[in-house]
Amino acid sequence: MTAEETLAQIATEISTCQKCELYHSRKMAVPGEGPANSEIMFIGEGPGFYENEQGRPFVGAAGKFLDELLAQAGLKRPEVWIGNVVKCRPQGNRDPLPEELAACDEYLERQLAAINPKIIITLGRYSMGKYMPGVKISAVHGQMRRLGDRFVIAMFHPAAALHQAALKPAILKDFAQLPKMLDQARAALAKSAPAPVEEAREDPKQLSMF
Ligand code: URA
Ligand code: SF4
Repeated sequence: MTAEETLAQIATEISTCQKCELYHSRKMAVPGEGPANSEIMFIGEGPGFYENEQGRPFVGAAGKFLDELLAQAGLKRPEVWIGNVVKCRPQGNRDPLPEELAACDEYLERQLAAINPKIIITLGRYSMGKYMPGVKISAVHGQMRRLGDRFVIAMFHPAAALHQAALKPAILKDFAQLPKMLDQARAALAKSAPAPVEEAREDPKQLSMF
């Protein structure tokens, strides 16, 4: 299966999923969208009212703001993958429960494996908690951390920045730094990429010393 086919298969499973209580109140599940070969994955929290209506991520007010933030970073929405930690809307936009996050995580893990992005950008506390457990977003927002063969950057949630005016300058600044961080991440990953096979074959004795 190609990565596109895998993502489509996951989206089909999500559309009829009943693994947690959130399926009762969903109109449409929101699997996430973007190119299967995206270098960057944005991971938010969960669908809100408009996302639940349309089955697409970040199409409401937070989504409009996210588009502005992407522009701030020189990115366009069709170039990146955008999804959430839970695929069905928590009623009244309440926070997702631990058991809902746990039940839904399988889908995000499979999406991640299919896309294999260089950079994960978490939007808000819930997706941050998956990659940087126990940290405070106020302490780590806008910072990049290496996680195996990828990098993770924690950002405030665009909806939080819309509701708390004090966060807006911070999130704008963090996104303005993004092009620089992306270049750093690309350079670091290129450096640590495994040597081409031909080179490795040239001197098997030397390799065996390790
Ligand atoms: N907020 C989120 O976290 N995700 C969406 O898709 C929309 C709003
Ligand atoms: Fe399934 Fe995730 Fe929707 Fe829960 S939130 S029903 S686990 S797709």
